[in-house]
Amino acid sequence: METKLSLAPLQGITDYIFRNSFNYYFGNIDTYYCPFIRIEKGDIRKSKIRDFSIENNNKMNFIPQILTNDKEEFIQLASMLSKDYSEINWNLGCPFPMVAKHNLGSGMLDKPELIDDILKHAFENLDCKISIKLRSGYKSEEDIMNLIPVLNNYNLSELIIHPRLGIQQYKGEANLDIVKKVSKVYKNKITYNGDIINKESFENIQNKLPNINSYMLGRGLIANPFLAQEIKGITTDVDKLELFKEFHADLLNRYSNLLNGDTQILKRMQGFWEYFSLSFTNSHKTHKKIKKASNASKYINAINQIFKEEKWIS
Ligand SMILES: Cc1cc2nc3c(=O)[nH]c(=O)nc-3n(C[C@H](O)[C@H](O)[C@H](O)COP(=O)(O)O)c2cc1C
Repeated sequence: METKLSLAPLQGITDYIFRNSFNYYFGNIDTYYCPFIRIEKGDIRKSKIRDFSIENNNKMNFIPQILTNDKEEFIQLASMLSKDYSEINWNLGCPFPMVAKHNLGSGMLDKPELIDDILKHAFENLDCKISIKLRSGYKSEEDIMNLIPVLNNYNLSELIIHPRLGIQQYKGEANLDIVKKVSKVYKNKITYNGDIINKESFENIQNKLPNINSYMLGRGLIANPFLAQEIKGITTDVDKLELFKEFHADLLNRYSNLLNGDTQILKRMQGFWEYFSLSFTNSHKTHKKIKKASNASKYINAINQIFKEEKWIS
């Protein structure tokens, strides 16, 4: 079975600039998702419109993700997006309290009737493919087990499971057993997501879930952009640090052209280093140096020092 890999959506990290630059320098990703799109006070933010527009996503296989708990809003968002894209992904996983407490994202997982009602309306009114990304529950793994009979009534193109509870946020371990349990009763395609950080963790998951051949990579891939290539067994003799430096310079250049003012550019670049620093020797010190940089020139100094003194380890 051919292994399929996708890039997870990470709000504030995997925007179209990151996705395009990543795809150009590293690739080996079959599908790219964007962080969730939602309607706020009747509107979609300008930065979001840029993020999902076709001219910014036409160099990759791209699936937009929406966040909503309202069936009419679902149709509104999906109709707009399906003019350019053949598939829409519905977010039933977001754990952030500000989202989940408003019955959105993972906060909907204990409401199977509501999910059923929205899916019924969506399948009756839309022509596009629909997939779902979810967690194993909000407060209990019973949620996903109660939901599967509902989901089995629809022809979802994909069910992406991150097996943590909403209330866990990112703590504790991803529970592979619940994915196994779901795979025995769910009738359509499952993609596994969560804690794939290197080839070993990938192989461990692959061994425990032998019927799954599709995986979504998030934090592990951002920390080590060569992870997809390693998983697919593609070997090159490229100098990893040198390629990463080019990628970093490209990100910096693209954000400098897009964003207004040093502070915004600095914040965006610093955000990546929570992950990038993990691929360098002295990760903690590396991350601290980046966080300490209080303006653009100090950031450049920190980067130059890191690239000179630390080694690429992943
Ligand atoms: C900062 C951050 C932002 C995220 N934003 C989204 C999002 O917009 N939509 C979504 O479905 N998941 C989002 N996620 C969850 C990831 O897509 C993924 O499910 C999670 O990180 C587990 O996978 P990983 O261990 O490979 O990172 C986010 C995660 C993080 C850490």
